[in-house]
Amino acid sequence: MLTLGIETSCDDTGVAVLRNEREVLCEFLSSQIKYHADFGGVIPEFAARKHLENLLPLVNAALSECEISGQDLDLIAVTRGPGLMGSLIVGVMTARALSQAWGVPLVGVNHLEGHLFAPLVDAEDLEPPFLSLIVSGGHTEIIRVDDFGKYELLGQTRDDAAGEAYDKAAKVLGLKYPGGPEIDRLAKMGKSNMFYFPVPLKNTDKVEFSFSGLKTALLWQVKKFGEADREVPIEDLCASFQRAVTEALMSKVILAVRQTGIRKVSASGGVSANSALREALRGCEEFRAWLPKMSRCTDNAVMVAMAGRNAWVRGGCLNGEVVPDPSLHEL
Ligand code: KG4
Ligand code: ZN
Repeated sequence: MLTLGIETSCDDTGVAVLRNEREVLCEFLSSQIKYHADFGGVIPEFAARKHLENLLPLVNAALSECEISGQDLDLIAVTRGPGLMGSLIVGVMTARALSQAWGVPLVGVNHLEGHLFAPLVDAEDLEPPFLSLIVSGGHTEIIRVDDFGKYELLGQTRDDAAGEAYDKAAKVLGLKYPGGPEIDRLAKMGKSNMFYFPVPLKNTDKVEFSFSGLKTALLWQVKKFGEADREVPIEDLCASFQRAVTEALMSKVILAVRQTGIRKVSASGGVSANSALREALRGCEEFRAWLPKMSRCTDNAVMVAMAGRNAWVRGGCLNGEVVPDPSLHEL
């Protein structure tokens, strides 16, 4: 069974072809970061235009790399939300047109379910039940996966997502967008115990997160250095900030493990590329962790193809037309 995956929910144009459950025949990703970096964030209108430019050439490149034609496909899987409306429209309408032209069935994928599948691409030994930590620029949540398609949201952030916190912190420090990879890089050169950042909601017995206060705490630290006319110790601030975010995430993963008794944890989304978080998850003795390979932590089409194929085989979510839904949330 051949599945074409298409991902255009934000600023990455992704196309991939999957054979059967998880064999990746090819994957292409066109990142727009360099176009958005100057603006300090993603410009939605611009993102949609770039998807429009990139998507069909990537689809053609994928077909020729796999030496197949569109009619050879068995399924097209496209992200239908959540995300930026303009970006989603490009992906979904292109996928609908290709599906009609080639006579290939189409399935719409929830971007979050896509992330949930990212660690599974290379992990045949990860079977439900497990807990899934999704940590991206737009979401921070822990989901209980009793089976594929059977999900329970255990808890999420009350305000900013973890990736958003990294991006905002980077802005405060004058670093380039996206902030997560920059902070991660600089943190490796700093000391994580040089500054105290409170770990939000650490001691509550609810699976929940809050990251907006951390950014404010960082802002105060930077201000203090400015007022004293002293150089801002960026590396130490990055290391200390990263430590607080990692502790906040880890404390709630451990809480979820203890509350559910499920000792298998997967992580995905852009922040799962963070070196401190990866190390903490892998080193924790309370559970075993599964992580996507680095290139599949952030948005990509392989995860969309795998999630879409799985939904298709399950026979779920196939009623009616596939329409973009920027606010799609619950899995
Ligand atoms: O999953 P993703 O590509 O897009 C969304 O669906 O949001 O995640 C992007 C987010 C950005 O906020 C980015 O700063 C963050 O992931 N990120 C990181 C790292 N790499 C990407 N955050 C911390 N450390 C990293 N190494
Ligand atoms: Zn994402």
